[in-house]
Amino acid sequence: MSFQAPKGTFDWLPPRSERVLAVREALVAPLRRAGYGYIETPVFEDTQLFARGVGESTDIVSKEMYTFPDKAGRSLTLRPEGTASVVRAVLQHNLHNGQLPVKLWYSGSQFRYERSQKGRYRHFWQVGAEALGSEDPALDAELIVLAAHGFATVGLKGVRLLINSLGDKTCRPAYRAALQEFLRGLDLDEDTRARIDINPLRVLDDKRPEVRAQLDGAPLVVDHLCAACNAYHEEVRSLLSASGVAFEDDPRLVRGLDYYTRTTFEFVHDGLGSQSAVGGGGRYDGLSEMLGGPPLPSVGWALGVDRTFLAMEAEGLLDESTESRLQVYGVPLGDDARRRMFLLISELREAGVSADMAFGGKGLKGAMKGADRSGAAYALILGERDLAAEAVQVKDLTTAEQTEVPLAQVVDVLKGKVQ
Ligand code: HAM
Repeated sequence: MSFQAPKGTFDWLPPRSERVLAVREALVAPLRRAGYGYIETPVFEDTQLFARGVGESTDIVSKEMYTFPDKAGRSLTLRPEGTASVVRAVLQHNLHNGQLPVKLWYSGSQFRYERSQKGRYRHFWQVGAEALGSEDPALDAELIVLAAHGFATVGLKGVRLLINSLGDKTCRPAYRAALQEFLRGLDLDEDTRARIDINPLRVLDDKRPEVRAQLDGAPLVVDHLCAACNAYHEEVRSLLSASGVAFEDDPRLVRGLDYYTRTTFEFVHDGLGSQSAVGGGGRYDGLSEMLGGPPLPSVGWALGVDRTFLAMEAEGLLDESTESRLQVYGVPLGDDARRRMFLLISELREAGVSADMAFGGKGLKGAMKGADRSGAAYALILGERDLAAEAVQVKDLTTAEQTEVPLAQVVDVLKGKVQ
């Protein structure tokens, strides 16, 4: 019997796995330069944290959570996203009583029991950033600019930014009522009708053509913003324009999580098919209070690393074969040579040269094949005659040129060659 990775999950294998590490790093680099500190929270949390934080009416909470009782009967859930956990950690450790905003970034696995397809997985990776405790349009703009820089750093050209405002507790209730009234007049199935009461904004996000066709005249939140929300949104837009970050107003942009207020945005890539969002986020001024904390106006985003990678593939950014990290490959011939090679390879590694050797007692032919496949620049061939002469053959694998070097000098010689 053989096992397969669970449905909706996959393995990252070399050399792609090395590339994805670099992509995560590149997405994070702009955050580090902007004063965001690294936070790591547990992969599982109290189920109620997500139920309350993300919202009972969302697909994430109602259908997609990996929830299980632990042995003491606590209900735990594998995190479907990072924001609720970050707010929980900030409140728990009183970070909000220090300098504001608290700026944090994270990078890690998220889990959602979604219908899996290309770009939509049950286990996926996000890089995220949250700035907590400030109501300032410059902070919303900063985060959006940093995400745009991240995508630019990995070379993506086809990322589009969509933005919207969802209003706040002053103007949202009236908009919600207007939307509900409009939606009640439509021809919708029972599930969708139920949604009108719980979360009418989500109906705007319905992808089915028969629903979409009826939504044309739906009231838009931008037309119902109060003066404060309007001014805030205009300021975010003008800071983005001044920063040279292109965006498109999308008055129908709604997000799949309930905590958003005011600014919301999504980064989409057209090379990805239906799962086009490579990142998204927004302001969540009420989340802290929803979790029992004090008012803590905040904003943040998460970028989907797997989808960013797919977008890079779609743009042909990953085509060139990856360079090997190995510089030297040892080819020992015989047991004594193998013992000596083992030590020599260690010495090279300690000296900062990346090195590997043939294992499993291969003969010269097999071991040389290994050297070629490894991508190393040099092979070190050590036979019995070499050992007796306290020397080793250094073969340049590009030119096939071979020179004999005393064992006592070979580390220095190779260091000189590869650095
Ligand atoms: P989200 O839009 O649910 O937001 O996820 C952010 C990104 O994660 C998406 O744009 C997408 O690239 C990626 N993603 C989501 N689900 C999947 C999946 N099943 N498979 C692959 N990639 C996926 C959040 O999670 C919020 N916490 C963002 C945020 C932070 N808002 C404020 N602060």
